Amino acid sequence: MAIQVKQEGNVYTIEPVKGKSLLATAFEQEVPLDYKCQKGNCTRCKVELVKGEEIVNKPTPKEHEQIEDELPEGYRLACQTVPLK
Ligand code: FES
Repeated sequence: MAIQVKQEGNVYTIEPVKGKSLLATAFEQEVPLDYKCQKGNCTRCKVELVKGEEIVNKPTPKEHEQIEDELPEGYRLACQTVPLK
C-alpha cells in the first residue's frame, strides 16, 4: 500500500520501504520533500500523513517534543516516520 503525504499544499505518493524513514525513501523515489537536519530537530520535513498511518511507527519522542499539538491532526516528521511493514 502506498503512503501519501502532503507538504506545502503538494500531495506526494511514496512506496513504503519497511524500516526506512519516509524522508530517506522519498529521496530514492525522487519525491522532493523539504528537509534539513534529518534528526527530528528542524521540523522542515513536517508532512500531513494523508494515507498510511496504520503501517507506520507511532510518533517518536522527538516528534512529541517538536510537534505535539499537531500529532492529533495527522502531522508527522518524515525523517522520524518509518513503515513497519
Ligand atoms: S529533517 Fe529536520 S526534523 Fe526532519
